[in-house]
Amino acid sequence: MKSKPLTRPADQLAVAYRDEITMDDWPGVRTVAEETGVFTEREVEIVRELMVDTIERPTWNNYRFWVAQADRVIAGFTCVSPIHTTPDRYEIYWIAVHPEFHGHGIASRLVDLAIARVRKQGGRKLYVETSTRSIYEPARKFYLAAGFVLEGTLPDYYADDDGKAIFARRL
Ligand SMILES: CC(C)(COP(=O)(O)OP(=O)(O)OC[C@H]1O[C@@H](n2cnc3c(N)ncnc32)[C@H](O)[C@@H]1OP(=O)(O)O)[C@@H](O)C(=O)NCCC(=O)NCCS
Repeated sequence: MKSKPLTRPADQLAVAYRDEITMDDWPGVRTVAEETGVFTEREVEIVRELMVDTIERPTWNNYRFWVAQADRVIAGFTCVSPIHTTPDRYEIYWIAVHPEFHGHGIASRLVDLAIARVRKQGGRKLYVETSTRSIYEPARKFYLAAGFVLEGTLPDYYADDDGKAIFARRL
């Protein structure tokens, strides 16, 4: 079943999307990650490591980034990867939109772009995991709105009272 794209045609904001990145994008990506206020310093550093790996090993077997840019400002990004050892399962590693740009459909568009590429690569199922903590409630609501289904929860996975919520979407 092919569901309709999440992207809303009436979005007012002029945003450009691209999947070519360089480390010149890092300051903008870092600002987005930091300004969301939900990621630890170590998590922000992991985003940088993912970017380096993406740039240095640009194969589809590796990570792939999309960035959303409003004028010269990076407004959001996502990072997707195949789940290695599976033939057709993929995972959204990261998705974040700068708070000033929330609610404009940017994350939806990023997911649409990632899904289009994953489908082209033969992907059949896309996963995303997040924390059960309340600061991630917007993210969980976003995933449900984006057609993902909550397939499981692992209590206390990240820490006591910080479980892992696993969402998936058939493509
Ligand atoms: C989750 C996040 C990426 C959503 O980005 P966004 O660009 O604002 O999302 P969109 O505008 O595409 O939202 C699409 C739909 O998702 C749902 N949604 C998004 N944010 C929501 C919120 N704060 N509360 C409730 N529903 C929300 C809505 O249904 C929305 O549709 P609507 O605007 O027509 O109501 C953004 O809130 C974010 O960066 N959060 C912090 C980082 C994070 O938690 N990332 C995930 C880590 S696993």
